[in-house]
Amino acid sequence: MKKLLYLLFAVVIALPLAAQNKYVGVKGCACHNMPKQGKQVDVWKKSDHAKAFETLKSDKAAEIAKKNGIASAAEAKQCLECHSTGAGDPAEKTFAAADGVQCEACHGAASGYKAIHNKPENKEKAVAAGLLKADEKTCKPCHGANKMHDAKPFDYKKAWEQIKHPAPKG
Ligand code: HEC
Ligand code: HEC
Ligand code: HEC
Repeated sequence: MKKLLYLLFAVVIALPLAAQNKYVGVKGCACHNMPKQGKQVDVWKKSDHAKAFETLKSDKAAEIAKKNGIASAAEAKQCLECHSTGAGDPAEKTFAAADGVQCEACHGAASGYKAIHNKPENKEKAVAAGLLKADEKTCKPCHGANKMHDAKPFDYKKAWEQIKHPAPKG
């Protein structure tokens, strides 16, 4: 029982802490491009998430924006919330929303866990500090009902196959 109380206490403390985390941007995740880590950055760069912001500058985006009464898709919160990470965040100096849907869109803003999460013994601490284990629920806010344009049907298994970037075992 005592343990449970401690756990509850830890969660109550950790949640607001994690909520204060700031985005560091994909450039801050460069260690993950080492071969022994699994080269997640290169995998991500080839994915559509890396060009999600650029997409907002296309003719098709202009058309969608117009239909929704939006003047500029690349500046509109209603588009950026799915096509970028951290746009309009007051801390937007350390990262670029123009880099698209970045690591932290799925793994949580990293300022609180970045310095500690590389050590296996810190795994729990990193999670308490805001590192998210991503899954199907992580995708749904963006790959679901969409007020701005039609959404393709989303098959998590297939979609994950397309963007997966596991860490090597061992
Ligand atoms: C912050 C919003 C956001 C989240 C979260 C997100 N995505 Fe995406 N995803 C996008 C956007 C926007 C595009 C389209 C980018 C483009 O084409 O410019 C996209 C495109 C894709 C594509 C390319 C295929 C297609 O449908 O055009 C795959 C695959 C994909 N996402 C998988 C995932 C998976 C798997 C997850 C969850 C683990 C996920 N996404 C989470 C916003 C998101
Ligand atoms: C709820 C999240 C969400 C919002 C809000 C959103 N998009 Fe998207 N957008 C996506 C996803 C996810 C895709 C990838 C295709 C799919 O899964 O439907 C996408 C794809 C696109 C594409 C590529 C379509 C194609 O077939 O090539 C364009 C262009 C686009 N969005 C423009 C916009 C514009 C402009 C806005 C704002 C008016 C906007 N989006 C708002 C999630 C979103
Ligand atoms: C669209 C969502 C999404 C984006 C963007 C994304 N990831 Fe992931 N990532 C996942 C999912 C889902 C998993 C598998 C479940 C998990 O381990 O969290 C994963 C797994 C990982 C793992 C393996 C964890 C383990 O223990 O095996 C690492 C490392 C990782 N991601 C780093 C990154 C980095 C670095 C970036 C940016 C370059 C990134 N991810 C971008 C969704 C995403």
